[in-house]
Amino acid sequence: MTLLTPLNKNINDKVAIVTGSTSGIGRGIALMLGNLGAKVVLNSTTSVEAGISMTKEIKDSIYIQGDISKPQDVEKIINDTLDHFGGIDTLVNNAGITRLIDHKDIEGASVDVWKSIFEVNVFGTWDMILKTYKHLEESSSGVIINVSSIAGLRPTGSSIPYATSKAAVVHMTKLLAKALGPKVRVNAVAPGLIETPWTQDWDFAKQIVSQQAPLKRPGTPEDVAEIVVGLINSKYLTGEVVLVDGGWNLS
Ligand SMILES: NC(=O)c1ccc[n+]([C@@H]2O[C@H](COP(=O)([O-])OP(=O)(O)OC[C@H]3O[C@@H](n4cnc5c(N)ncnc54)[C@H](OP(=O)(O)O)[C@@H]3O)[C@@H](O)[C@H]2O)c1
Repeated sequence: MTLLTPLNKNINDKVAIVTGSTSGIGRGIALMLGNLGAKVVLNSTTSVEAGISMTKEIKDSIYIQGDISKPQDVEKIINDTLDHFGGIDTLVNNAGITRLIDHKDIEGASVDVWKSIFEVNVFGTWDMILKTYKHLEESSSGVIINVSSIAGLRPTGSSIPYATSKAAVVHMTKLLAKALGPKVRVNAVAPGLIETPWTQDWDFAKQIVSQQAPLKRPGTPEDVAEIVVGLINSKYLTGEVVLVDGGWNLS
Protein backbone atom coordinates (compact mmCIF):
# COMPACT_ATOMS: atom_id res chain seq x y z
CA MET A 1 0.00 0.00 0.00
CA THR A 2 1.34 3.45 -0.91
CA LEU A 3 1.07 5.80 2.05
CA LEU A 4 2.74 8.88 0.62
CA THR A 5 3.39 10.15 -2.88
CA PRO A 6 7.14 10.69 -3.22
CA LEU A 7 7.85 14.41 -3.11
CA ASN A 8 7.90 16.05 -6.56
CA LYS A 9 6.89 12.81 -8.29
CA ASN A 10 4.78 14.89 -10.69
CA ILE A 11 7.71 17.18 -11.45
CA ASN A 12 10.96 15.23 -11.48
CA ASP A 13 11.65 13.92 -15.00
CA LYS A 14 8.30 15.29 -16.25
CA VAL A 15 7.97 17.61 -19.24
CA ALA A 16 6.64 21.07 -18.35
CA ILE A 17 5.83 23.86 -20.79
CA VAL A 18 5.87 27.29 -19.14
CA THR A 19 4.60 30.02 -21.46
CA GLY A 20 6.07 33.50 -21.02
CA SER A 21 9.00 32.17 -19.01
CA THR A 22 11.86 34.57 -19.78
CA SER A 23 10.84 37.10 -17.15
CA GLY A 24 9.07 37.58 -13.83
CA ILE A 25 6.65 34.94 -12.58
CA GLY A 26 7.11 32.56 -15.53
CA ARG A 27 10.88 32.67 -15.13
CA GLY A 28 10.51 31.94 -11.39
CA ILE A 29 8.24 28.97 -12.10
CA ALA A 30 10.52 27.59 -14.84
CA LEU A 31 13.64 27.84 -12.64
CA MET A 32 11.92 26.16 -9.69
CA LEU A 33 10.57 23.33 -11.84
CA GLY A 34 14.02 22.90 -13.40
CA ASN A 35 15.64 22.75 -9.95
CA LEU A 36 13.18 20.01 -9.01
CA GLY A 37 14.24 17.93 -12.01
CA ALA A 38 11.63 18.83 -14.62
CA LYS A 39 12.34 18.94 -18.33
CA VAL A 40 11.39 22.53 -19.04
CA VAL A 41 10.17 24.20 -22.22
CA LEU A 42 10.85 27.94 -22.06
CA ASN A 43 8.92 30.36 -24.22
CA SER A 44 8.45 34.03 -25.06
CA THR A 45 7.88 36.23 -28.08
CA THR A 46 10.70 38.78 -28.33
CA SER A 47 13.13 38.05 -25.47
CA VAL A 48 14.91 35.30 -27.38
CA GLU A 49 18.36 35.89 -25.88
CA ALA A 50 17.01 35.69 -22.35
CA GLY A 51 15.31 32.40 -23.22
CA ILE A 52 18.43 30.90 -24.75
CA SER A 53 20.51 32.02 -21.79
CA MET A 54 18.03 30.37 -19.38
CA THR A 55 18.59 27.02 -21.08
CA LYS A 56 22.07 27.18 -19.55
CA GLU A 57 20.56 27.66 -16.08
CA ILE A 58 18.11 24.74 -16.35
CA LYS A 59 19.82 21.39 -16.92
CA ASP A 60 17.24 19.80 -19.21
CA SER A 61 15.48 22.60 -21.08
CA ILE A 62 14.78 24.08 -24.49
CA TYR A 63 13.64 27.51 -25.55
CA ILE A 64 10.89 27.89 -28.16
CA GLN A 65 10.12 31.34 -29.47
CA GLY A 66 6.42 31.84 -30.11
CA ASP A 67 3.43 34.08 -29.49
CA ILE A 68 0.59 32.15 -27.82
CA SER A 69 -1.95 34.37 -29.56
CA LYS A 70 -0.81 33.08 -32.97
CA PRO A 71 -2.21 29.61 -33.80
CA GLN A 72 0.81 28.67 -35.96
CA ASP A 73 3.17 29.57 -33.10
CA VAL A 74 1.18 27.44 -30.67
CA GLU A 75 1.47 24.50 -33.11
CA LYS A 76 5.23 25.08 -33.20
CA ILE A 77 5.56 25.20 -29.41
CA ILE A 78 3.70 21.89 -29.07
CA ASN A 79 5.39 20.15 -32.03
CA ASP A 80 8.92 21.20 -31.04
CA THR A 81 8.24 20.04 -27.46
CA LEU A 82 7.03 16.64 -28.69
CA ASP A 83 9.97 16.31 -31.10
CA HIS A 84 12.46 17.08 -28.33
CA PHE A 85 10.94 15.46 -25.24
CA GLY A 86 8.38 12.99 -26.68
CA GLY A 87 5.42 14.05 -24.51
CA ILE A 88 3.90 16.74 -22.29
CA ASP A 89 2.99 16.25 -18.61
CA THR A 90 2.50 19.82 -17.35
CA LEU A 91 1.27 23.01 -18.99
CA VAL A 92 1.74 26.28 -17.13
CA ASN A 93 -0.19 29.03 -18.91
CA ASN A 94 1.64 32.06 -17.58
CA ALA A 95 2.02 34.36 -20.62
CA GLY A 96 -0.15 37.41 -20.32
CA ILE A 97 -0.34 41.09 -21.20
CA THR A 98 -2.12 44.16 -19.86
CA ARG A 99 -2.79 47.83 -20.49
CA LEU A 100 -2.78 50.34 -17.64
CA ILE A 101 -6.13 52.17 -17.99
CA ASP A 102 -7.99 53.92 -15.18
CA HIS A 103 -11.27 52.07 -14.57
CA LYS A 104 -13.19 55.35 -14.92
CA ASP A 105 -11.66 55.95 -18.37
CA ILE A 106 -14.36 54.06 -20.21
CA GLU A 107 -13.38 55.52 -23.62
CA GLY A 108 -9.79 54.37 -23.09
CA ALA A 109 -10.91 50.76 -22.84
CA SER A 110 -11.78 50.53 -26.54
CA VAL A 111 -12.91 47.31 -28.15
CA ASP A 112 -9.48 47.09 -29.80
CA VAL A 113 -7.87 47.12 -26.35
CA TRP A 114 -10.24 44.37 -25.18
CA LYS A 115 -9.43 42.33 -28.29
CA SER A 116 -5.65 42.66 -27.93
CA ILE A 117 -5.72 41.61 -24.26
CA PHE A 118 -8.16 38.74 -24.81
CA GLU A 119 -6.14 37.50 -27.82
CA VAL A 120 -3.29 36.62 -25.45
CA ASN A 121 -4.77 36.11 -21.98
CA VAL A 122 -7.89 34.19 -22.98
CA PHE A 123 -7.73 32.93 -26.57
CA GLY A 124 -3.98 32.19 -26.46
CA THR A 125 -4.35 30.36 -23.16
CA TRP A 126 -7.28 28.38 -24.56
CA ASP A 127 -5.36 27.52 -27.75
CA MET A 128 -2.44 26.18 -25.69
CA ILE A 129 -4.89 23.96 -23.79
CA LEU A 130 -6.75 22.93 -26.94
CA LYS A 131 -3.55 21.74 -28.57
CA THR A 132 -2.02 20.01 -25.51
CA TYR A 133 -4.87 18.36 -23.63
CA LYS A 134 -4.70 15.08 -25.60
CA HIS A 135 -0.99 14.81 -24.79
CA LEU A 136 -1.68 15.63 -21.13
CA GLU A 137 -4.31 12.87 -21.11
CA GLU A 138 -1.62 10.41 -22.18
CA SER A 139 0.56 11.39 -19.22
CA SER A 140 0.23 9.61 -15.86
CA SER A 141 0.20 13.05 -14.18
CA GLY A 142 -1.37 15.48 -16.68
CA VAL A 143 -1.84 18.88 -15.11
CA ILE A 144 -2.63 22.43 -16.23
CA ILE A 145 -1.84 25.48 -14.13
CA ASN A 146 -3.30 28.78 -15.30
CA VAL A 147 -1.93 32.09 -14.06
CA SER A 148 -4.89 34.34 -13.31
CA SER A 149 -4.69 37.35 -10.98
CA ILE A 150 -6.25 38.90 -7.90
CA ALA A 151 -7.85 41.12 -10.56
CA GLY A 152 -9.78 38.08 -11.79
CA LEU A 153 -11.31 37.54 -8.36
CA ARG A 154 -11.81 41.05 -7.00
CA PRO A 155 -12.98 44.28 -8.76
CA THR A 156 -9.46 45.67 -9.11
CA GLY A 157 -6.49 45.50 -11.52
CA SER A 158 -4.60 47.45 -14.17
CA SER A 159 -7.65 47.88 -16.41
CA ILE A 160 -11.19 46.56 -16.77
CA PRO A 161 -10.37 44.50 -19.91
CA TYR A 162 -7.35 42.93 -18.12
CA ALA A 163 -9.32 42.11 -14.96
CA THR A 164 -12.13 40.62 -17.01
CA SER A 165 -9.67 38.50 -19.01
CA LYS A 166 -8.28 37.09 -15.75
CA ALA A 167 -11.82 36.40 -14.48
CA ALA A 168 -12.33 34.42 -17.70
CA VAL A 169 -9.20 32.41 -16.85
CA VAL A 170 -10.67 31.60 -13.42
CA HIS A 171 -13.92 30.32 -14.91
CA MET A 172 -12.08 28.47 -17.67
CA THR A 173 -10.05 26.71 -14.98
CA LYS A 174 -13.12 25.48 -13.11
CA LEU A 175 -15.03 24.39 -16.21
CA LEU A 176 -11.98 22.57 -17.58
CA ALA A 177 -11.40 20.81 -14.27
CA LYS A 178 -14.85 19.26 -14.72
CA ALA A 179 -14.35 18.54 -18.42
CA LEU A 180 -10.84 17.05 -18.25
CA GLY A 181 -10.97 15.05 -15.02
CA PRO A 182 -9.99 12.44 -13.99
CA LYS A 183 -7.07 12.27 -16.42
CA VAL A 184 -6.02 15.92 -16.26
CA ARG A 185 -6.19 18.23 -13.24
CA VAL A 186 -6.67 21.96 -13.85
CA ASN A 187 -5.84 24.58 -11.21
CA ALA A 188 -4.90 28.25 -11.15
CA VAL A 189 -2.90 30.73 -9.14
CA ALA A 190 -4.13 34.29 -8.69
CA PRO A 191 -1.12 36.44 -7.77
CA GLY A 192 -1.56 39.73 -5.94
CA LEU A 193 1.14 42.33 -6.48
CA ILE A 194 4.36 40.58 -7.46
CA GLU A 195 7.77 42.22 -8.03
CA THR A 196 8.52 41.66 -11.73
CA PRO A 197 9.55 43.87 -14.67
CA TRP A 198 5.80 44.28 -15.31
CA THR A 199 5.33 46.07 -11.95
CA GLN A 200 8.74 47.75 -11.69
CA ASP A 201 7.25 51.28 -11.79
CA TRP A 202 4.30 50.52 -9.50
CA ASP A 203 5.84 52.12 -6.40
CA PHE A 204 2.54 53.47 -5.11
CA ALA A 205 0.84 50.08 -5.27
CA LYS A 206 3.85 48.42 -3.60
CA GLN A 207 3.66 50.96 -0.79
CA ILE A 208 -0.03 50.22 -0.27
CA VAL A 209 0.55 46.47 -0.17
CA SER A 210 3.45 46.90 2.25
CA GLN A 211 1.16 48.87 4.55
CA GLN A 212 -2.11 46.96 4.18
CA ALA A 213 -1.32 43.30 3.54
CA PRO A 214 -0.89 41.14 6.66
CA LEU A 215 2.47 39.94 5.27
CA LYS A 216 3.61 43.56 4.69
CA ARG A 217 5.37 43.18 1.35
CA PRO A 218 4.73 42.57 -2.35
CA GLY A 219 5.26 38.99 -3.50
CA THR A 220 8.17 37.54 -5.43
CA PRO A 221 8.07 35.18 -8.43
CA GLU A 222 9.35 32.46 -6.06
CA ASP A 223 6.32 32.98 -3.77
CA VAL A 224 4.09 32.17 -6.74
CA ALA A 225 6.31 29.34 -8.01
CA GLU A 226 6.09 27.58 -4.62
CA ILE A 227 2.31 27.44 -4.94
CA VAL A 228 2.52 26.23 -8.54
CA VAL A 229 4.81 23.40 -7.39
CA GLY A 230 2.32 22.56 -4.64
CA LEU A 231 -0.58 22.47 -7.11
CA ILE A 232 1.34 20.25 -9.53
CA ASN A 233 2.12 17.83 -6.69
CA SER A 234 -1.37 17.80 -5.11
CA LYS A 235 -2.98 14.80 -6.76
CA TYR A 236 -6.44 15.32 -5.19
CA LEU A 237 -6.81 18.98 -6.11
CA THR A 238 -8.59 20.24 -9.21
CA GLY A 239 -10.62 23.33 -10.15
CA GLU A 240 -8.93 25.33 -7.39
CA VAL A 241 -7.77 28.94 -7.66
CA VAL A 242 -5.17 29.93 -5.07
CA LEU A 243 -4.80 33.60 -4.24
CA VAL A 244 -1.11 34.38 -3.63
CA ASP A 245 -1.24 37.91 -2.27
CA GLY A 246 0.23 37.96 1.24
CA GLY A 247 -3.34 38.38 2.51
CA TRP A 248 -3.80 41.72 0.72
CA ASN A 249 -7.41 40.86 -0.20
CA LEU A 250 -8.30 40.82 3.50
CA SER A 251 -7.56 44.51 3.96
N1 LIG B 1 3.37 40.88 -11.70
C1 LIG B 1 2.21 40.88 -11.06
O1 LIG B 1 2.00 41.61 -10.05
C2 LIG B 1 1.10 39.97 -11.52
C3 LIG B 1 -0.05 39.89 -10.72
C4 LIG B 1 -1.09 39.06 -11.11
C5 LIG B 1 -0.97 38.28 -12.26
N2 LIG B 1 0.16 38.37 -13.03
C6 LIG B 1 0.20 37.54 -14.22
O2 LIG B 1 1.42 36.81 -14.24
C7 LIG B 1 1.82 36.57 -15.59
C8 LIG B 1 3.27 37.01 -15.75
O3 LIG B 1 3.41 38.36 -15.35
P1 LIG B 1 4.83 39.00 -14.99
O4 LIG B 1 4.57 40.09 -14.05
O5 LIG B 1 5.80 37.92 -14.68
O6 LIG B 1 5.17 39.67 -16.42
P2 LIG B 1 6.58 39.92 -17.19
O7 LIG B 1 7.69 40.03 -16.24
O8 LIG B 1 6.27 41.05 -18.10
O9 LIG B 1 6.75 38.58 -18.03
C9 LIG B 1 5.87 38.25 -19.05
C10 LIG B 1 6.44 37.09 -19.84
O10 LIG B 1 5.48 36.68 -20.82
C11 LIG B 1 6.10 36.75 -22.13
N3 LIG B 1 5.00 37.02 -23.07
C12 LIG B 1 4.25 38.14 -23.20
N4 LIG B 1 3.33 37.98 -24.16
C13 LIG B 1 3.50 36.73 -24.66
C14 LIG B 1 2.85 35.99 -25.68
N5 LIG B 1 1.86 36.50 -26.40
N6 LIG B 1 3.28 34.72 -25.93
C15 LIG B 1 4.29 34.18 -25.23
N7 LIG B 1 4.95 34.84 -24.26
C16 LIG B 1 4.56 36.11 -23.97
C17 LIG B 1 7.17 37.83 -21.98
O11 LIG B 1 8.24 37.73 -22.93
P3 LIG B 1 8.19 38.56 -24.33
O12 LIG B 1 7.90 39.97 -23.97
O13 LIG B 1 9.53 38.33 -24.95
O14 LIG B 1 7.11 37.90 -25.08
C18 LIG B 1 7.72 37.47 -20.59
O15 LIG B 1 8.55 36.33 -20.67
C19 LIG B 1 0.84 37.33 -16.47
O16 LIG B 1 -0.13 36.44 -16.96
C20 LIG B 1 0.20 38.34 -15.53
O17 LIG B 1 -1.11 38.66 -15.89
C21 LIG B 1 1.19 39.22 -12.69
